[in-house]
Amino acid sequence: MSQTANQVFGIISIKGGVGKTTTVVALGAVLAQEFNKKVLLIDANFSAPNLGLHLGCVNPEYTVHHVMHNKAKPQQAIYETEFGFHIMPGALIYKKINPYKLKNRIESLKKLYDIIILDSSPTLNEEILTTMIASDKLFVVTTPDHVTLSTTLRAVVLAKQKKTEIDGIIINKVHKKSFELTLEEIEDAAGCKVLAVIPHELHFLESLSMNTPSTLHSLTESTVEYSKLAAAMIGEEYEDPRFKSRLLGLFSKDPRKQEMNRIIFKDTQLN
Ligand SMILES: Nc1ncnc2c1ncn2[C@@H]1O[C@H](COP(=O)(O)OP(=O)(O)OP(=O)(O)O)[C@@H](O)[C@H]1O
Ligand SMILES: [Mg+2]
Repeated sequence: MSQTANQVFGIISIKGGVGKTTTVVALGAVLAQEFNKKVLLIDANFSAPNLGLHLGCVNPEYTVHHVMHNKAKPQQAIYETEFGFHIMPGALIYKKINPYKLKNRIESLKKLYDIIILDSSPTLNEEILTTMIASDKLFVVTTPDHVTLSTTLRAVVLAKQKKTEIDGIIINKVHKKSFELTLEEIEDAAGCKVLAVIPHELHFLESLSMNTPSTLHSLTESTVEYSKLAAAMIGEEYEDPRFKSRLLGLFSKDPRKQEMNRIIFKDTQLN
């Protein structure tokens, strides 16, 4: 049983295309289906919303934009998906938003959901601020290259300035090549812990083409890593179902760094 209170998790980056929405959808599916949580995903990428598109929800009648402009009640803009979680998608027509409003507008929803996940905009303006302000815990997605890392560092600094510090880094699209930045290099530069390392896998593109969360598409290394991350986020245990990993785990004296970080993070979630 989880002992964590209902929480809002924000997934941010200051670079587009790093995998924020993919991560939000994957975590949503895992939390709903494996951990039986009541989950709501909200598109807080106001100028270029794409959460609905990832899931085949196009042109919804009411959206987060309506909610932000008091044109709809939050419940009116929530849609049930076939994957066990609910979503509040965005509208393709963008009107300027007040970044301080989302936190207040979704307050009543915290009673209805175990977990709310915000899919942030990568734009370094009031849009990303919205997610920073409205989240209880904040995670930044980066890829292991110096160009993306430089934007990740800006996110870390901004979060510090706004007193909404980053709780963990998710490294995505990892090819396991020697030219990529290592976990340690990323942690040293950013000054925060890496909680998940997601490999680059072709099945992400296939699942996107089918409007299906990657974690429901097939059991791969990324699927297991997302499940472990989700477990840590809610202070629960997760056991890798793959026989080979369990066997390796029995003999390994050197657990991977992100495993250790997750154990520490999980404990902070329970306190
Ligand atoms: N680990 C991965 N391996 C391979 N492809 C991936 C991986 N993660 C994400 N992708 C692909 O990268 C593309 C961009 O992902 P996504 O839309 O989640 O990025 P984003 O950060 O939300 O972008 P934006 O800032 O534009 O909203 C998608 O085609 C997605 O399927
Ligand atoms: Mg996105």
